[in-house]
This record gives sequence, C-alpha cells and structure tokens, in this order.
Amino acid sequence: MKLVTCGLPYANGKAHIGHLRTYIPADVYVRYLRLKGEDVIFVCGSDSHGTPIVVNAEQQGLKPRELVDIYHEHFQKIFRELDIEFDYYGRTDSHYHHERTREIVRRLLENGHIYPKEIELAYCPNCQRFLPDRYVEGICPYCGALARGDECDQGCGRHLEPGEILKPKCKICGTPAEFRKQRHYYFRLSAFKEFLEKYISNLRGTENALNYAMEWVRGELKDWCITRNLEWGVKFPTDEELVVYVWVDAPIGYISFTEKACEKLGKDWRDIWIDGRAEIIHFIGLDIVYHHCIFWPAMLKGAGYALPSGVVASGMVKVEGKKFSKSRGYVVWVEEDYLKADLNPDYLRYYIVNYTSHQRDLNFSWHVFRDKVNNELIATLGNFIYRVMHFAWKNFGKVKMDVDEEVTERIRRAKETIEDAISRWEFKEASDAFMELAGYGNSFFQSSKPWEVIKEDRNEAERVIASALAIVRALAVLAYPVLPRSMRAVAETVGLDIDSSTLDTALDIPEYVKVGKPEVPFERIDDEKMEELERIMMERIRDSGEEGEKMDERIGIEEFQRLDIRIGKVLKAEKVKGSKKLMRLEVDIGNEVRQIVAGIAEEYSPEELEGEPVAVLVNIKPARLMGVESNGMILAADINGKPVLLKPEKDVEPGARVR
Ligand code: 2FM
Ligand code: ZN
Repeated sequence: MKLVTCGLPYANGKAHIGHLRTYIPADVYVRYLRLKGEDVIFVCGSDSHGTPIVVNAEQQGLKPRELVDIYHEHFQKIFRELDIEFDYYGRTDSHYHHERTREIVRRLLENGHIYPKEIELAYCPNCQRFLPDRYVEGICPYCGALARGDECDQGCGRHLEPGEILKPKCKICGTPAEFRKQRHYYFRLSAFKEFLEKYISNLRGTENALNYAMEWVRGELKDWCITRNLEWGVKFPTDEELVVYVWVDAPIGYISFTEKACEKLGKDWRDIWIDGRAEIIHFIGLDIVYHHCIFWPAMLKGAGYALPSGVVASGMVKVEGKKFSKSRGYVVWVEEDYLKADLNPDYLRYYIVNYTSHQRDLNFSWHVFRDKVNNELIATLGNFIYRVMHFAWKNFGKVKMDVDEEVTERIRRAKETIEDAISRWEFKEASDAFMELAGYGNSFFQSSKPWEVIKEDRNEAERVIASALAIVRALAVLAYPVLPRSMRAVAETVGLDIDSSTLDTALDIPEYVKVGKPEVPFERIDDEKMEELERIMMERIRDSGEEGEKMDERIGIEEFQRLDIRIGKVLKAEKVKGSKKLMRLEVDIGNEVRQIVAGIAEEYSPEELEGEPVAVLVNIKPARLMGVESNGMILAADINGKPVLLKPEKDVEPGARVR
C-alpha cells in the first residue's frame, strides 16, 4: 500500500500556478500507481492555522474560521476542476485533527522530547499582547535586514525563532515592543541528530530534497520552540493559554486526513501510520524541505509513529521568465486567469508535467503554453488519435485487430519507459514517452496511407488501421494520468473502460475493436484568447509596479525626460499571423528602423498605415507579443478602449524628439 500526500495549502489566499506545481504531478503520480494496480490513498487539506491567517482575517473583519471557510471551498473547487482527486481533503481546524495533534504532543511530552523554557518575547504594551511570528517586525539578528517575526524574508531568508528578532515593533499598531518573559515549550530536536542522519541517508525522493536535508542535518540542529501566544490553533495539552506552532500541527494533517480517508475506504489508518505497512510519500515545494525532512520525521520518531519513505520536491516556478511573485504581478491565478478563460484543464496538466523535469524550475509563459498545446498536444497527439478513430469509424466501424509486431514492440517500449520514469518521479520523461509513441503513430499512419490502400485492398487497409488503433488504445491508457479528461473520452470511443484498465491494458489486443463516432480530443487555443491572457498578465505586472509609487502619483521633469519619444514613419505594416488585434510595423525612427507590434489592427489597415507618421516611445524595454518581438511602443489616444494614433500637426522628419 502507498500513501501519497501533498503539502497543505494555507487557506489564506487563492490558488496559483505555484500550488499546481506540486498538486498536478502528485495527482499524475497517483493515477499512474493506480494504473499499475497499486493500492493508493491520496490525501491533502487546508492548513488553517498560523499567524498570517489570523492577521489577514483581522484585516478583513472576519473570524479566522470564516476566512478559512472561503479558501477551503476555493481550493476544493480548483482541485475538482483540474481533476486533482484526493481521497480526502480535510482542514486542520477540524475537531478530529486537533485531537490527533494533542495526542501526538502528549506522547512527545511523555517521552521527554518537549521541555518548558522561560524566554523573552516581544510584547506590545499598547495592544497588551504578545506578538507571535507575523505580528512583529524588526531587524534580523543574522544579517541586519528588515524581517518578520518568524522569518528574515527580505534578507538572508533564515527561519527566526521566537525572541530572536531585534528592535521588534508591533505589526498592528506600530508601537515598539517590549521584551517580556514567558514560559514556552521546546522540542528537543538536537537529540535527534544521529537518528536523522541515518534516516535521511535511507530516505528516497528527489535529489533536490535529499541534498538539502543532508546538508542541514550535518549542521547544528537547534531545539525548536513549538508554542505560540494565540487563540487560533491547537491548544497545547498542558497549557491551554498557548497553541502549538502551525508547523507542528500542519503535517499531522497527513495523519488525521488519512484517518478520515480510511474511514471512507474501510481501511485501518494504523496500518499506515503506526505499523508502517505502507510507503508514505510526501509531495512538497522546495521551500518546505526542512520541515518535512528534519522536524517532521523527528516528531514522528519521538511519538512512536511510522516514518515517511519518500519526499518529492518540485522545483520553483517562474512566470514569463521572472521569479514568481504575487506582489509584482508575476503570477497566474488558477481561477480568474485559467479556468475563467474556459481552457481545458488537461492543457495545464500537460504543461506542468512536460515543461521540464519535476525538480527543475518551471517557467510559465502564455505563448509557450499556446505553442505546447498547439504543436504538441494537438498537432501530434490529438491529430493522430482523431484521424485514426475517424478513419476506422467511417470505413469499418468494427476493426479486426491484426496488429503489426513492430507496433506492439513500440507500445511495450513506451510503457516500460513510463513505468521507469514514474518510479523516479520524472514526469516529463513519462509524458515525452507517450508523445513519442504518438509521433511514431503519426508517421506510421502517414506512410502507410490507408486512405489510398483502401481503394485497392480493403483487408490491407484494415490491417493498417488495426495497428494504428492499437496505438490509440495504448495512448488512451498511457496518457490518461496526465490527460484524464481527454483520454477518458478517447478510451470510450475505442471501446476501453478506463476505470478497469491497467498499464498492461495498453498491450492488450482484443480480437475486434468497435469504434464509436469520434470527437476531436483537443480544441485549438484561440489566438484572441491568448492575446487577452497575455494582456491581463502584462497589465497586472505593470499595475503592480506602480503600486509601490502610489504615494505621490506626480512625476518630476527628470522622470519625464527619461522617456525618449520620437516621431517615426511607418515603412511597412502587416497583421501578426493568428492575431486579430496585433499589427507588426517597421518604423523608421531617424537613425534606425525598429520592429514594433501594436494593438491597432482592428482599427487600421496596413495600407492606411504605410508611409504615415507615428509617435513612438523608443526607450521602452523590448517585449514579445504573440511570439513577435516588439521594440518600441506606438502612442495613441484611448477612445473607449480603441486606439486613435497621434500625429504631428505639421510634416516632420523621422527621429524628431517629442518633449
Ligand atoms: O508552506 C505551506 O504552504 C504550508 N501550509 C505547508 C504545510 S505542509 C504540511 F506540513 F502540512
Ligand atoms: Zn536575515
């Protein structure tokens, strides 16, 4: 048996592409395991505790639970719509989770792994309360940067223990904090060093996670303060004034949600978490390796629970080539950007697993997305599947499955490659393998020309289509974990029940196959939609850039003078292929000719532009629009969203400066 878990998302904000980097591959993994006939439980849930949630709720005039309700719903909806299917999706503010956490903390107390200690903590004399974690801001004792109570987020990135921050200030009212003594509880992490060294050397998982873990465990392991002064959280068993630190109870969610999943599935969670009769595999982001490879196994060991056998960490996410950042606009929101645009969830699943290896950094860019969908999913996989199904349906209906041996061999190889790749969490290799099989299918179909053969020799044509159909059936199974929605439909058309299939079904050749009326598996991505999505992203990036400068919206003359605006002359104009709005221009700006892409194609034709003067912002950074580089910006008046070009009132030479 296997238990697969995903890092619990904080119920504190909307789902974005960074989240999916963990959840989609985990879902793909679970689906492959199930196709291999393995018994798998897959759990996740909302991380409901921690100061950011309390602070955020307070700012929005909500109770923490009300805020959690909103995002708990939100994440479930996202997962449903992207076909990420957990056996149980819990939340850590549930009663059963609190009970499990308290039980584990009690065991740790009994076993002598937790001790009390008086420490000096930041206290706000104005708000009359202690200031845990994000309630306090100050100076990092290690690097001197501005830091939050629990983390040096702008400097060295270190985790800060309570009481460590210098010059603390209350985040709510700004009052300088005092230090006051209070009794807190520490987990004796230092005592687990030897155990952890051994444990990590046997741990499986992706190299990125294992390397970090090894490095940390060889350094100093400091004891860990595991209580906080908060109302919201799991009450510490022997002191109900305190709650346990969110990073103590969150991973325990893996256990409490397994209990719930087992209730549903008629299994015993103790087999997994007490008796160690299952492989436990955690899918997480690279930023929480420490918690999963150091804190968590030590806690489990100390409480007498079973240990995880694998930690699989995804690489980081970039958006349009820049580091993922919500505040700077480099983000893709799953609901408002992707799902609202009515894009097939399978496209995003494919992009995320196929862009690069699971451990590497993934860059999300709309035009790469479009190209991958159009050139790979549609041109290679979708086209092949559809052509074969259509030909079989139209000419035969029922096909006698006399299949070429080389074809069977190819299918076997693809299946083996996939199995091997999945065992190493190399989802890109797995998805490349089924794409390669589709590519082979395409050339097989193309070179066998069944549409010509059928005119002369119907039996030979049937043999060709039987082989092609065998590939389609194999693809429906082999690609199903990545593309569940589309491949389920394909499977149905070619007479396969995906729910009772295994990877071996890919090699199963029945005597006859009945083919139903086929549907196109993937719709092409509309260019206009893509432009719209690129526009939304660019605007978000631009607007968030202004965010920081909102204090005074006026600019000085020096700032204006940094704009190099000139009059140019359009030498050539043509519509950008595949786009309604974009026009590619070649503009003479005096000393050079620039290629500029402008959103004016709906209002202006190439003919009326050629030879005309335009105002150009020359020193804007180059950008790519629909894959075409734009090196400059044409200025226009915005009349209800429609551009009206600016022109000088008299004839001027190209290159004249605008001041
Ligand atoms: O970093 C995070 O988003 C945490 N909410 C992950 C928790 S994972 C686990 F330990 F539960
Ligand atoms: Zn620092």
